[in-house]
Amino acid sequence: MKFFIDTANLDQIREANDLGILDGVTTNPSLMAKEGIKGTDAVLKHYKDICDIVKAPVSAEVISTDFAGMVEEGKKLAAIDPHIVVKIPMIKDGIKAIKWFTDNGIKTNCTLVFSSGQAILAAKAGATYVSPFIGRVDDSNWDGVDLIAQIAQIYSVQGFETQVLAASIRNALHIVRCAEVGADVCTCPLSSILGLLKHPLTDLGLAQFLADAKNMG
Ligand code: E4P
Repeated sequence: MKFFIDTANLDQIREANDLGILDGVTTNPSLMAKEGIKGTDAVLKHYKDICDIVKAPVSAEVISTDFAGMVEEGKKLAAIDPHIVVKIPMIKDGIKAIKWFTDNGIKTNCTLVFSSGQAILAAKAGATYVSPFIGRVDDSNWDGVDLIAQIAQIYSVQGFETQVLAASIRNALHIVRCAEVGADVCTCPLSSILGLLKHPLTDLGLAQFLADAKNMG
């Protein structure tokens, strides 16, 4: 399973990249706004800065909601860097736009996916990635990981090449469960990635080894 980081914060992207296990980045307009990125030029520059750090897939989301607008915006985003993946919402014009980008050799990430039916449509349109939002599914009293498992199963049975990108990750257990059910990618906040490190027995064991090392001859 690939690890993407789900942030527009350059320090966090650098920190995750320095771990040596980072395979890409996802952003969305909320994450960009959180970093205070405003105006078209600043947004495009910020995506370029992210691409220069990771040199791996970086999802950049369109904010148009009509076919022509998404295509125009997506072309500008894709021109920033070869690693840009155009992120398109799961709406009717979004499906048309994904098909257009697929036909024109531009990678896409279909976002705001909450059902297997939506995931089938995204795959039919040729999306490179499909992003089911599992934390938000959990918030509505369904099991988000079950959705990942069902989509992974459908894609496998049907031979779809679209990669299942588990999004809206809230904790380290989400990452483990997504790996178990066959997600191709998990996009995670830095805190959830670092959460995988934690185990009290590791801390206790290391403290004991270091204490005993002082007694070594
Ligand atoms: C990533 O592609 C999504 O935009 C993101 O994971 C959404 O996460 P949230 O539900 O925590 O906002």
